[in-house]
Amino acid sequence: MAQMVTKRVLEEIRFKNDIVDIVQSTLDLKKAGATFKALCPFHKEKTPSFIVNPQRQIFHCFGCGKGGDVFKFIMEYEGVDFIGSVKMLADRAGVQLELEEGAGKVSDKDLLLKINNEVCDLYHDLLLNDKRAQVARNYLARRKLDRETAAKFRVGYAPDEWDFIVNWGNRKKYTMDVLERVGLVVRKTGENGTRYYDRFRGRVMFAILDEQGRVVGFSGRTLEKNDQGAKYVNTPETPLFHKARILYGLSFARRHIVEAREAIVCEGQIDVIRCHQSGFETAVASQGTAFSDDHVRVVHRYADSVVIVFDPDEAGQNAAIRTAQIFIGAGLAVRVASLPKGQDPDSLILEKGKEEFQKVLDSAASAVAFQAQVMSERENVRSEVGAMRVAREVLQTISRSPNAVQRERLVREAAQRLELNPSALFEELRKIMRKTSASSRVRDKQVGAPVVNMPMEEKDLCRHLVQSEDAPESVALAKKYLPLEFVKHALCRDVLQAILDVAGTGEDIVESVREKDGSDGEMQAFVSGLIMGPTKAGLGERTPVDAVRDIILHIWRRELKDERKRIDAKADQTAEDKERRRQITYDLKSLQSWDT
Ligand code: CTP
Ligand code: MN
Repeated sequence: MAQMVTKRVLEEIRFKNDIVDIVQSTLDLKKAGATFKALCPFHKEKTPSFIVNPQRQIFHCFGCGKGGDVFKFIMEYEGVDFIGSVKMLADRAGVQLELEEGAGKVSDKDLLLKINNEVCDLYHDLLLNDKRAQVARNYLARRKLDRETAAKFRVGYAPDEWDFIVNWGNRKKYTMDVLERVGLVVRKTGENGTRYYDRFRGRVMFAILDEQGRVVGFSGRTLEKNDQGAKYVNTPETPLFHKARILYGLSFARRHIVEAREAIVCEGQIDVIRCHQSGFETAVASQGTAFSDDHVRVVHRYADSVVIVFDPDEAGQNAAIRTAQIFIGAGLAVRVASLPKGQDPDSLILEKGKEEFQKVLDSAASAVAFQAQVMSERENVRSEVGAMRVAREVLQTISRSPNAVQRERLVREAAQRLELNPSALFEELRKIMRKTSASSRVRDKQVGAPVVNMPMEEKDLCRHLVQSEDAPESVALAKKYLPLEFVKHALCRDVLQAILDVAGTGEDIVESVREKDGSDGEMQAFVSGLIMGPTKAGLGERTPVDAVRDIILHIWRRELKDERKRIDAKADQTAEDKERRRQITYDLKSLQSWDT
């Protein structure tokens, strides 16, 4: 979708939206020298570490690490995607967006959204007013979901008919093809040719809204207890609906989550609705699927910690542990609440009241304590094998954490729970982490994998090059003498590549990085931090070019020494290995003379 907007238009939008104005309209910006400061809106803090640089038109928070240009700020602050931020800023500045399909014509996605929205209203209207929906009204009354809640969450009713949407679509002149693509009708090809029928029949319909509150899909619950059909029927994958990404309730919860920096994670949509209805407005749920790294990324945009409240049966406990592991892998603090047997958040709040649910949340244990607890109910921890098994599983969870402080805390907690010596657990944890880090080096950008620490020299090199736009010799030096595969850290490597790419083109590095960045905005955050970080770190008496040369030499030396170590570690060295080793020693010597 991003290619719908030309570079020239993006530049115009950026030009007309001064980042200082944009930030100032929502935050209390104070001038501090050449930059501006504010309390960061993306994490809790008492002293401002959120900086805006008007010259470079970027922001960076030295507390939470978020950063980027004006589009990035809007994406983070409003919780929209890139194209959403472009639309908002274009609107604000009165810039006409020229869409690929020609101005005035709506894109396919917009059409699908429009149809979903209309059908959502249709179902809702039916629920409130149609006599066919009496069963649904009775059902919702039994479940204590009132009109106000039904309106807010856009609950509706799909009548028990095969062609309700089909006929509606025909009247509205929507093609069956487009209704199929949005997931509302199903195509069936048989002997008598192709037929279309409604996907949702005789169900209470829950609209699934994206972060901005647009209807991207539906989840329909059956009314009967022992229906032979599925309890829930959901929209399949469509251009709008990706179940591995969508979180039910997020459009309502996100503001509250930002404030609390914590989200309540439930299993079902009715749980989410009940939570919001009772004042627990940070509740979200995945949409009938296991939590994915994408889900976690979305939550992480708003929260630093989560409380998981899943069903207390075995399946729910297992899902809670798996979900906790994924969140821990992204560096979030995780607690898991234990509901009384047979209850879910919905039933507990209804039967025992919201105070009781609050108590359950308050007494939520750390993920490790929860896992140890659950496993010791299933294993005999008094036995040696039992204890080892539990310890190993718990350490697996801990090893996911990219944060040493978090790991340390969790190990101490596990030691206490399992009545084991922490040093024994630390030792086992190191073993597990050595194993996983070797196999995960290739995917070191992925959430859930232990993070490869960023080598200081690589970060310094990025910093020097980003800050020395005015010194093309430095960039030229890196281009000529540094093989990028020597750079260990994927983020540094990507950023260096971007720097070399823009060198001499006159393009701004911030802009280039935004184009290359992943959805997590990692590159932008890194680059904005480098630009606004301490200037020319550790330069001393040297010129920037000298500093860059020193770092390149250092990296060469590091690589050669590593290679030599690998050869030395080999049990049977070939003649080739020996020759290579001699060559390395020679190269290292000549690097020394180059040095002086
Ligand atoms: N789910 C689904 N498809 C099913 C069953 C469940 O997509 N066949 C999803 C739904 O999103 C549901 C969640 O899994 O909300 C949890 O399922 P469950 O605990 O069975 O339902 P509840 O949310 O408790 O719904 P209810 O209270 O109406 O029984
Ligand atoms: Mn339920």
